[in-house]
Amino acid sequence: MRVGIFDSGVGGLSVLKSVLQARLFAEIIYYGDTARVPYGPKDKTTIEHFALEALEFFKPFDIEMLLVACNTVSALALEKMRAHSSIPIVGVIEAGILATIQQFQDKHTPILVLGTRATIASGQYAQKLHAHGYSSVQSLATGLFVPLIEEGVLEGELLQACMRHYFESMHNAPAVLILGCTHFPLIASQLQGYFQARFQRSCALVHSGDAIVHFLQDTHHLTPLKHPPKVRFFASGDVEALKVQARAWLQGL
Ligand code: DGL
Repeated sequence: MRVGIFDSGVGGLSVLKSVLQARLFAEIIYYGDTARVPYGPKDKTTIEHFALEALEFFKPFDIEMLLVACNTVSALALEKMRAHSSIPIVGVIEAGILATIQQFQDKHTPILVLGTRATIASGQYAQKLHAHGYSSVQSLATGLFVPLIEEGVLEGELLQACMRHYFESMHNAPAVLILGCTHFPLIASQLQGYFQARFQRSCALVHSGDAIVHFLQDTHHLTPLKHPPKVRFFASGDVEALKVQARAWLQGL
């Protein structure tokens, strides 16, 4: 099966990595809208417009399924995309919720959802988790991480300062951290390190990439292929910069 993976930028590489490890598809077309990232501070109409343009981008490739490897687009534009497409379009939020329910049965588990401003403002994670009975859900918009990650700042003082900026006023340790932005797995170890140092307690992660793989295995009954897939990268901006990040991130696969 030939699939498309779409994100606003390099964040979808974290989903691509999980998908490659699981060997679910024969051919993957990755498209990052790097010329217009970040999506997180933009309004719903703009995000829907960009998402429909991404559908146009994929048309000549004749893909059989599209993975929306972006929480912001999944939160704000998935319905619009589905209404304009005849192929299955799978988002990451539904998958992330399913992964959380399957992994953490205690409904009092303190959960912290991190995402872009648009994702958090949509309330999708919090509403769905509450609907499943989770009583301790906190959501925080941490969109500044996105441009840092796009710039390749994956560790160091700048990132530490950004984490202090967002988390300093927190009083309770989260037991589960939902990485509700596909850029965030690229700094997952730094986030875990911060919370470990701050609260002397480790936190488990929910990762959109692993979640979507399990979701596809569960709902579309996909099984691993023998051969690694062929991957092609495209970007609306500098595709070479995307490939540099892809090489670093996918190293060892
Ligand atoms: N990686 C995206 C997400 O999962 C979007 C980040 C952005 O463009 O602001 O939300």
